[in-house]
Amino acid sequence: MNESQKKELDEIVEKYRKLPNAKIKILQETQLKFDYLSGESMRHIAEALGVSYTEIYGIATFYSFFNLSPPGEHTINVCLGTSCHVKGGDEILEELQKTLGVDVGETTKDGLFSIKTVRCLGCCGLSPVIDIDGKTFGRVKKAKVSGLLEPYREVKE
Ligand code: FES
Repeated sequence: MNESQKKELDEIVEKYRKLPNAKIKILQETQLKFDYLSGESMRHIAEALGVSYTEIYGIATFYSFFNLSPPGEHTINVCLGTSCHVKGGDEILEELQKTLGVDVGETTKDGLFSIKTVRCLGCCGLSPVIDIDGKTFGRVKKAKVSGLLEPYREVKE
Protein backbone atom coordinates (compact mmCIF):
# COMPACT_ATOMS: atom_id res chain seq x y z
CA MET A 1 0.00 0.00 0.00
CA ASN A 2 1.51 3.34 -1.01
CA GLU A 3 1.33 6.62 0.90
CA SER A 4 -1.59 8.02 -1.08
CA GLN A 5 -3.60 4.84 -0.46
CA LYS A 6 -2.83 5.09 3.25
CA LYS A 7 -4.04 8.68 3.18
CA GLU A 8 -7.26 7.62 1.45
CA LEU A 9 -7.80 4.97 4.11
CA ASP A 10 -7.21 7.51 6.88
CA GLU A 11 -9.85 9.76 5.31
CA ILE A 12 -12.34 6.90 5.25
CA VAL A 13 -11.62 6.08 8.89
CA GLU A 14 -12.08 9.73 9.93
CA LYS A 15 -15.33 10.02 7.99
CA TYR A 16 -16.99 7.18 9.90
CA ARG A 17 -15.11 6.71 13.17
CA LYS A 18 -17.73 8.40 15.36
CA LEU A 19 -20.78 6.91 13.66
CA PRO A 20 -22.69 3.78 14.72
CA ASN A 21 -21.39 0.62 12.99
CA ALA A 22 -18.27 2.57 12.07
CA LYS A 23 -16.13 -0.53 11.48
CA ILE A 24 -18.53 -2.05 8.97
CA LYS A 25 -18.98 1.26 7.17
CA ILE A 26 -15.22 1.76 6.99
CA LEU A 27 -14.70 -1.74 5.59
CA GLN A 28 -17.51 -1.25 3.06
CA GLU A 29 -16.11 1.99 1.73
CA THR A 30 -12.59 0.58 1.69
CA GLN A 31 -13.79 -2.32 -0.43
CA LEU A 32 -15.65 0.05 -2.73
CA LYS A 33 -12.47 2.05 -3.25
CA PHE A 34 -9.92 -0.78 -3.49
CA ASP A 35 -12.16 -3.66 -4.75
CA TYR A 36 -11.23 -5.88 -1.82
CA LEU A 37 -9.89 -5.84 1.74
CA SER A 38 -6.19 -6.66 1.79
CA GLY A 39 -4.47 -7.74 5.00
CA GLU A 40 -2.45 -4.55 4.83
CA SER A 41 -5.49 -2.31 4.58
CA MET A 42 -7.23 -4.13 7.46
CA ARG A 43 -4.08 -3.75 9.57
CA HIS A 44 -3.97 -0.03 8.78
CA ILE A 45 -7.66 0.39 9.68
CA ALA A 46 -7.18 -1.50 12.96
CA GLU A 47 -4.23 0.69 13.87
CA ALA A 48 -6.08 3.89 12.98
CA LEU A 49 -9.08 2.85 15.11
CA GLY A 50 -6.92 1.60 17.97
CA VAL A 51 -8.43 -1.90 17.86
CA SER A 52 -6.89 -5.29 17.16
CA TYR A 53 -6.35 -6.67 13.67
CA THR A 54 -8.22 -9.80 14.78
CA GLU A 55 -11.33 -7.73 15.47
CA ILE A 56 -11.30 -6.13 12.02
CA TYR A 57 -10.46 -9.43 10.33
CA GLY A 58 -13.31 -11.08 12.27
CA ILE A 59 -15.82 -8.57 10.92
CA ALA A 60 -14.48 -8.90 7.37
CA THR A 61 -14.80 -12.67 7.42
CA PHE A 62 -18.20 -12.71 9.13
CA TYR A 63 -20.04 -10.88 6.34
CA SER A 64 -20.16 -12.59 2.96
CA PHE A 65 -20.19 -9.29 1.06
CA PHE A 66 -16.57 -8.59 1.95
CA ASN A 67 -13.85 -9.83 -0.41
CA LEU A 68 -10.51 -10.71 1.09
CA SER A 69 -8.82 -11.26 -2.25
CA PRO A 70 -8.88 -9.31 -5.51
CA PRO A 71 -12.04 -10.07 -7.47
CA GLY A 72 -11.70 -12.37 -10.47
CA GLU A 73 -12.28 -11.29 -14.03
CA HIS A 74 -15.75 -12.84 -13.81
CA THR A 75 -18.00 -12.67 -10.75
CA ILE A 76 -20.50 -15.45 -10.18
CA ASN A 77 -23.39 -14.55 -7.87
CA VAL A 78 -25.22 -17.57 -6.53
CA CYS A 79 -28.69 -16.84 -5.23
CA LEU A 80 -29.43 -18.38 -1.83
CA GLY A 81 -32.75 -16.58 -1.29
CA THR A 82 -35.70 -18.64 -0.07
CA SER A 83 -37.00 -19.72 -3.45
CA CYS A 84 -33.54 -20.64 -4.79
CA HIS A 85 -32.67 -22.38 -1.54
CA VAL A 86 -35.79 -24.54 -1.80
CA LYS A 87 -35.00 -25.38 -5.43
CA GLY A 88 -31.42 -26.47 -4.73
CA GLY A 89 -29.36 -23.27 -4.81
CA ASP A 90 -27.02 -24.71 -2.16
CA GLU A 91 -26.22 -27.69 -4.39
CA ILE A 92 -25.40 -25.33 -7.27
CA LEU A 93 -23.09 -23.41 -4.95
CA GLU A 94 -21.37 -26.62 -3.83
CA GLU A 95 -20.91 -27.70 -7.43
CA LEU A 96 -19.35 -24.35 -8.33
CA GLN A 97 -17.03 -24.52 -5.34
CA LYS A 98 -15.99 -28.04 -6.33
CA THR A 99 -15.53 -27.16 -10.00
CA LEU A 100 -13.52 -24.01 -9.34
CA GLY A 101 -11.75 -25.13 -6.15
CA VAL A 102 -12.59 -21.93 -4.25
CA ASP A 103 -14.90 -20.88 -1.47
CA VAL A 104 -17.37 -17.99 -1.37
CA GLY A 105 -15.48 -14.68 -1.40
CA GLU A 106 -12.40 -16.26 -2.99
CA THR A 107 -10.90 -16.00 -6.46
CA THR A 108 -9.51 -18.85 -8.57
CA LYS A 109 -5.72 -19.04 -8.87
CA ASP A 110 -5.86 -18.02 -12.53
CA GLY A 111 -7.76 -14.89 -11.51
CA LEU A 112 -10.73 -15.78 -13.73
CA PHE A 113 -13.62 -16.41 -11.32
CA SER A 114 -14.87 -15.21 -7.94
CA ILE A 115 -17.90 -16.64 -6.18
CA LYS A 116 -20.33 -14.59 -4.15
CA THR A 117 -23.72 -15.32 -2.66
CA VAL A 118 -26.77 -13.08 -2.78
CA ARG A 119 -30.18 -13.18 -1.09
CA CYS A 120 -32.46 -12.72 -4.12
CA LEU A 121 -31.74 -11.82 -7.71
CA GLY A 122 -35.34 -10.78 -8.30
CA CYS A 123 -36.35 -13.60 -10.63
CA CYS A 124 -37.54 -16.27 -8.19
CA GLY A 125 -39.72 -17.88 -10.88
CA LEU A 126 -36.48 -19.09 -12.50
CA SER A 127 -35.01 -20.64 -9.33
CA PRO A 128 -32.36 -21.77 -8.82
CA VAL A 129 -30.63 -18.75 -10.29
CA ILE A 130 -27.03 -17.65 -10.70
CA ASP A 131 -25.66 -14.62 -12.44
CA ILE A 132 -22.31 -14.28 -14.11
CA ASP A 133 -21.11 -10.71 -14.71
CA GLY A 134 -24.73 -9.53 -14.55
CA LYS A 135 -26.10 -12.13 -16.97
CA THR A 136 -28.81 -14.25 -15.37
CA PHE A 137 -29.03 -18.03 -15.71
CA GLY A 138 -32.23 -19.65 -14.45
CA ARG A 139 -33.33 -23.19 -13.60
CA VAL A 140 -29.67 -24.11 -13.30
CA LYS A 141 -28.92 -27.82 -13.10
CA LYS A 142 -25.94 -29.14 -11.17
CA ALA A 143 -24.75 -31.13 -14.18
CA LYS A 144 -24.77 -27.99 -16.36
CA VAL A 145 -22.70 -25.78 -14.07
CA SER A 146 -19.36 -26.56 -15.65
CA GLY A 147 -20.74 -25.93 -19.15
CA LEU A 148 -22.07 -22.52 -18.12
CA LEU A 149 -18.55 -21.46 -17.20
CA GLU A 150 -16.96 -22.55 -20.47
CA PRO A 151 -17.60 -19.36 -22.53
CA TYR A 152 -15.98 -17.35 -19.73
CA ARG A 153 -12.85 -19.46 -19.82
CA GLU A 154 -12.09 -18.52 -23.39
CA VAL A 155 -8.93 -16.47 -23.70
CA LYS A 156 -9.50 -12.93 -24.84
CA GLU A 157 -7.88 -12.05 -28.20
S1 FES B 1 -34.70 -16.24 -4.28
FE1 FES B 1 -33.35 -16.53 -5.93
S2 FES B 1 -34.06 -15.13 -7.40
FE2 FES B 1 -35.32 -14.77 -5.71
